Amino acid sequence: MTESVTITDNRTGQSVEVPIVDGAVSAAEWAKLLPGIWFYDPGLGTTAECESAITYIDGEAGILRYRGYPIEQLAEGSTYLEVAYLLLNGELPVRAELDRFTEEIRQHTFIHENMRKRFFDGFHYDAHPMGMLVSSVAALSTFYPEAKRIDEPETRRRQAVRLIAKVPTLAAAAHRFSIGKPFVYPDVSLSFAENFLSMMWRGAEPRFEADPALVRAIEVLFILHADHEQNCSTTTMRVVGSAHADPYSACAAAIAALYGPRHGGANEAVLRMLTSIGSLDAVPEFVRSVKEGHGRLQGFGHRVYKNYDPRAKIIREVAYDVFEVTGKNPLLDIALKLEEVALADEYFSSRRLYPNVDFYSGLIYQALGFPVELFPVLFAIPRTSGWLAHWSEMLEKNTRIARPRQVYTGQDERPYVPLAERG
Ligand code: ACO
Repeated sequence: MTESVTITDNRTGQSVEVPIVDGAVSAAEWAKLLPGIWFYDPGLGTTAECESAITYIDGEAGILRYRGYPIEQLAEGSTYLEVAYLLLNGELPVRAELDRFTEEIRQHTFIHENMRKRFFDGFHYDAHPMGMLVSSVAALSTFYPEAKRIDEPETRRRQAVRLIAKVPTLAAAAHRFSIGKPFVYPDVSLSFAENFLSMMWRGAEPRFEADPALVRAIEVLFILHADHEQNCSTTTMRVVGSAHADPYSACAAAIAALYGPRHGGANEAVLRMLTSIGSLDAVPEFVRSVKEGHGRLQGFGHRVYKNYDPRAKIIREVAYDVFEVTGKNPLLDIALKLEEVALADEYFSSRRLYPNVDFYSGLIYQALGFPVELFPVLFAIPRTSGWLAHWSEMLEKNTRIARPRQVYTGQDERPYVPLAERG
């Protein structure tokens, strides 16, 4: 039996029966009955903006899958570039496909010299790396005017490769610039993650060699952050892309959304919170103050997950691997204690508040030596592949331009008053 809902317009007595398909009802069907009456949904909390075959989340059960593959299995056995290929193409690559994709990415890691010498030099010495990333990604569109041809699949694919390859280079350039260090060119003999670390940290040594455990940690963090369906920045990518902007401009807009502290900045807030708690003894008092309404437990709770965020579980394990090499981040014990106290507390369990992806990621980034301002940049690097997968999917479906409606609450019509007559 087909499941459906029926809505009746009590003004006219007319009804419409709308089938429930894939857990959704078509707003177009409702609109036939209710022309000119809009669905008021601030923050789009109950609106499915699109159909998508990329990422599946079951927030109740704490499940996350890319293209059907459980995140745990991808984190265990895959690499970031393999996952990026999967997100973009829908299937895991066979060896030859992965080799070709990896090679292409390698070739495109370099940025135009004008970008490095002139564009970056224009920033103020203390420019935030995320601001530099937003604007440098937008500037890439001027170097690749062909990117405007968004209706050509091969042109789209080439820009996706360029963006995935160049964002780490721009990210590292932004960091080096902000601390006054010279730019490090990409080393094409290294893997994606190794090359990023090399561009970040290389000093006078001829070749940068990263500890394999740290490289693996970066790979896993990149895999976990590669996509998360219709979050704020991905929706931005789709909305800007729906106007047929080129992918660099759309991606810059998505990075701008990620720059917001409500989206890409929560792990920084976790670090600040743990630092302010300061000691294990202070944890119960801190939890009590949160329950009394003094601030939030940063890194806890999620709009979608009402269970342990599956990414947080994986990240917690990665943290131990990293600390084996770097030494333990002293804030880890406070984080573990905080988690223990909160999970045992009725306030958090009744509201189904569990650690999210950000609860432990900041601790790892800090142990790896990344400055706090770079945390959202580290998020943007892998999320670029997710944004591009959604952008391509949206264009392949020939989606209409995003154009929501509003509920107008302003003045009724009134006559213009000349300046001299205004009191
Ligand atoms: N600490 C204490 N209480 C909380 C927290 C928290 N972290 N999160 C939610 N609550 C409480 C709210 O006060 C509210 O309580 P009430 O019903 O008594 O009023 C209840 O739980 C529901 O909270 P909402 O704000 O309605 O939940 P929402 O889904 O809108 O918010 C959010 C989700 C923004 C993530 C929230 O849990 C939060 O602020 N968490 C801390 C910040 C954070 O970690 N953000 C990262 C999210 S992951 C990411 O973006 C990559």
